Amino acid sequence: MNENMKENNVIKIGGSLIFTEEYKINVKKIAEFCKIFKSRKYSGTHVIVCGGGLVAREYINAVRSFNGSEALCDAFGIEISRINSKLFIASFQDFAYPLVPKSIEELSIAILFNKFIIMGGLQPGQSTTSVALEVAEFIGAQDLVILTDVNGIYDKDPKKFNDAKLFKHLNYDELQELIVKKTYSKQAAAGEYRIFDMVSLQILKRSNIKVFIMSGKELSEFKKFWKGDKAISGTIISKD
Ligand code: UTP
Repeated sequence: MNENMKENNVIKIGGSLIFTEEYKINVKKIAEFCKIFKSRKYSGTHVIVCGGGLVAREYINAVRSFNGSEALCDAFGIEISRINSKLFIASFQDFAYPLVPKSIEELSIAILFNKFIIMGGLQPGQSTTSVALEVAEFIGAQDLVILTDVNGIYDKDPKKFNDAKLFKHLNYDELQELIVKKTYSKQAAAGEYRIFDMVSLQILKRSNIKVFIMSGKELSEFKKFWKGDKAISGTIISKD
């Protein structure tokens, strides 16, 4: 790919990559991301959407223990994802737009500054994956990349089952079937949205975006992807 090619894209960084299992901020990982993003000359609009991670879940569980509503729990998740975004902005310095857009309207202003834009949640009732899709739709992104702590979408939880099978490619119908099959009553609860949820699927279906899901535990694959090599070992979701 031409290094200066103009392209718009969205990268969702799962909260699992922002914190270590000991609830520490993964400073090394954030700095590594920063180095990769700065490594390529770019033009176009690039938006990073940060998840909430363990810390968001911790707050959500506390609010739930006070019998707080799911919407209130979501509000805490959104706040934490925005704090995480601020951390990335602090690491990116001049390279990033200094504010975290809180709406699509604020995003449209941020775009005018030609900097990396980093944002978290938008409104209750959805995940940051849904935000990433809304943003991708809004900016007319070529791709959406979802970086998480597993290699892609599996037929069952790869952290629990050694024989879990990775899907290299899923079309929208296959993805829907998987999500419906896995729909526990909990799926739409605050803090419980999985790699791909129903709200995200609905946005995906109308927007036709190509989604690349890969592991961000080790960033060599993403580094290659960012330089233009789109042959990933994770899951690609596309219409057909
Ligand atoms: P996510 O669950 O999307 O973050 O957002 P995550 O930690 O990156 O998730 P993984 O790693 O992909 O699984 C944290 C919580 O914030 C609320 C939801 O409760 C969500 O579970 N949220 C986020 C919203 O309510 N609205 C948004 O637009 C975004």
